[in-house]
Amino acid sequence: MKTQKVAIITGAGQGIGLEIARKLVEEGTHIILNDIEKRLTEEAVASLSQIGKSSVLGCSGDSSSEEVIFELVDLALRNFGRIDQLVANAGITLFGSFLEYSRNDFFEVTRVNQAGTFFLTQAVAQVMKNQKSGGAILLTSSVTAHQSHANLAAYAMSKAAIEMLAKNLVLELAPLGIRINTIAPGATLTERTASDPDYAKTWAKLTPLGKPAAVNQIADAAVFLLSDAASHITGQTLIVDGGWTSISPSPYA
Ligand SMILES: NC(=O)c1ccc[n+]([C@@H]2O[C@H](COP(=O)([O-])OP(=O)(O)OC[C@H]3O[C@@H](n4cnc5c(N)ncnc54)[C@H](O)[C@@H]3O)[C@@H](O)[C@H]2O)c1
Repeated sequence: MKTQKVAIITGAGQGIGLEIARKLVEEGTHIILNDIEKRLTEEAVASLSQIGKSSVLGCSGDSSSEEVIFELVDLALRNFGRIDQLVANAGITLFGSFLEYSRNDFFEVTRVNQAGTFFLTQAVAQVMKNQKSGGAILLTSSVTAHQSHANLAAYAMSKAAIEMLAKNLVLELAPLGIRINTIAPGATLTERTASDPDYAKTWAKLTPLGKPAAVNQIADAAVFLLSDAASHITGQTLIVDGGWTSISPSPYA
């Protein structure tokens, strides 16, 4: 029988992270699922456990804090003795014009998105190194790391940093058999984005493929990058945006 893999996934109480977690569980992967919201963590654990193919453990809290990073790794090691995959999905978006952007918002975005991803990746890579059997790490960027998007300077900067982190870490992690890639979703319908009633309509007009992504379209790409089907891919960013970053405003369109 094939050994079941073990994955840590953050910010997975809803949205893209929850859908990635669902697909991993359907493949029989044991999951340590994190969300800052206790209720969402518990609901996600209960719903994914019902799939019945693997164990799903919850760990609620801020995934960028040292304590939660320690707890995530500790839970994985105590229950399963190993970590094969990491999905650093948690990220926050704080909108605001550059000229008025507050130091608080800047440092909060940087702390959660950039520092959180950095130190979680470090903690998991140390475990993977000691296991000597490699692993797959997936970070989460955004199309805003590639194209300008109003009121998102700090967020865009944090996401571009995450892409560069994956690229840079190839040097240190490839010799350990650890692959590290980044997914960059475009506009995606989630509980958060759908709170804007015009979101789907607006992005249907702006997206060459005619609609914003559904979470399963992002999760399919994420699961591919984590899988053995991507065994020679590392240091890359996969943009999943229905073509949005491929076009520019044109007088001829
Ligand atoms: N939805 C989109 O259109 C879109 C587009 C590009 C990139 N992304 C990125 O994809 C990822 C997931 O996006 P989403 O829209 O599904 O997310 P979301 O905003 O719906 O958040 C998902 C979950 O993360 C949790 N969370 C927030 N801060 C956390 C923290 N510090 N620690 C642990 N959990 C935390 C929230 O409680 C929420 O349940 C994010 O990194 C986001 O930046 C999303």
